[in-house]
Amino acid sequence: MDSQTTIPATSGAFAEGMHLPKTVQVANVNHYFGEGELRKQALFSNNLDVRRGEIVIMTGPSGSGKTTLLTLIGTLRTVQEGSLKVLGNELQGADRDLIVRLRRELGFIFQAHNLFESLTAYQNVNMAAELVGLDPQIAEGRIKSLLTRLGLGDRVHYKPKSLSGGQKQRVAIARGLVHKPKLILADEPTAALDEKSGREVVTLFQELARDEGCTIIMVTHDNRILDVADRIVNMVDGNIKSDVAVQETSVICEFLKGFPLFADLTPNTLSEVADKMMVHEADAGDVVIRQGDPGELFYLIRGGSVDVLIDDGTEEKTVAQLNQGQYFGETALITDEPRNATIVAREKSIFYALGKADFRVVLETSATFEEELRQALFGRQ
Ligand SMILES: Nc1ncnc2c1ncn2[C@@H]1O[C@H](COP(=O)(O)OP(=O)(O)O)[C@@H](O)[C@H]1O
Ligand SMILES: [Mg+2]
Repeated sequence: MDSQTTIPATSGAFAEGMHLPKTVQVANVNHYFGEGELRKQALFSNNLDVRRGEIVIMTGPSGSGKTTLLTLIGTLRTVQEGSLKVLGNELQGADRDLIVRLRRELGFIFQAHNLFESLTAYQNVNMAAELVGLDPQIAEGRIKSLLTRLGLGDRVHYKPKSLSGGQKQRVAIARGLVHKPKLILADEPTAALDEKSGREVVTLFQELARDEGCTIIMVTHDNRILDVADRIVNMVDGNIKSDVAVQETSVICEFLKGFPLFADLTPNTLSEVADKMMVHEADAGDVVIRQGDPGELFYLIRGGSVDVLIDDGTEEKTVAQLNQGQYFGETALITDEPRNATIVAREKSIFYALGKADFRVVLETSATFEEELRQALFGRQ
C-alpha cells in the first residue's frame, strides 16, 4: 500500500496553453442548407474555442456537420447565425476585403485534391505561393523542402498523372502549407495515405504547430493519428458533443504520463486508459477504501491528500500520508487479497480511479513497473 511515486504536476505546456490567444472562437453557430420548405438545419448551436498552436481533431459520423463547420471557419461559407471569429476577426457580416485578407492566413487541405493536371507538383504548389504573393525565392526553398519533407523529393517535376493517389494528396498538403498559414484546416488529410505517409503528414503538422505556432483543425476518422491531437472534438447530428470530456481526457493523459506505470503505453493506449478513468471526489473524512473490503479500483490522487490507516487487530494507526501525484489501491488488485489498509481523505480531494480489469491490462503492458511493484510487494517479505 505504501509504494509511492512523486510526479510533476500537470505538464507546464498544457497549463501555459491556457493563456495563448484564441485562433478560432465559435459561439452559438447554426447553419442551414436550402430554402423554404427544403430548408434543413445542419449545425445546431456550436461552441468551440481553439488556441494558438493547438492541434484539434474533429471526428464524428458522416453527415454530422464536420465539413460544414470547417468550411465556415475557413470563410468558404457565409456565417448565417452566431458568432465566428478567426484570428480575432468576426466573420458574421464580414466584408469581402476582410475575407480576402484572412484567406491568406489560412491553409486548406481538402479531400478532393483537384490538382492542375497540366502542372507539375512544384508548379501546383507554387500556384498557391503566387496567389498570396510570396517572394519567389523564398517560395522555391519552401516548396522544395515541403515536397522533400513529404517524401516527394524525387517527384518534384512530375505531373499528377504520374503520381499515385497518396502522392497527389501529399502535393495538395504541400500546397496548403506553402504560404505558412497561421491556421490549417484539413478535411481527412490522411485518408488516401498509407500508415507511414499519414504519420509523416501529422508529424509535419506537429512541427508546424510547435515551431511556427500554427493552429490546426483536422477532420479525421483515422484513429492511428489521434495521438497528435491536443484535443478531440466529437460531432454528432450537427453539434459538438464532447469537447469538455475529452479535455479532461487530455488532462488525465498529461497526469498519467508522469507515472512509471503508464510510461510504456503508446499514446493511443494511454488515451484509451484515460478514457476509462473515473473521476471520484471525496470530502475531508470520507473513507475511500476500507481495510478488509475486496479491491475493485486503483486510485491516483489528482488533487488533495489522504491518510493511510492500518488496523493490526488491536488499534488503527495512521501509517502514511499520500498527496497529489501519488497512488494507492494497487496491492489488492495485484494479490487478489482484501484491502490491507483504510484510506481516508484528509481534505476535499479528487481521484482518478481505474477498474481492476483495466488496471491489469495496463500492468501487463508495463513490464518494468510490474517488476518493480512485485519486488516492492514480495521482495521485502
Ligand atoms: N451543399 C449542401 N447542400 C445541402 N445540404 C448539405 C450541403 N452540404 C452538406 N449538407 C448537409 O449537411 C449535413 C452535414 O454535412 P457535412 O458537413 O458534409 O457532414 P460531414 O462532413 O460530417 O460528413 C448533412 O446532412 C448534409 O447532407
Ligand atoms: Mg465531410
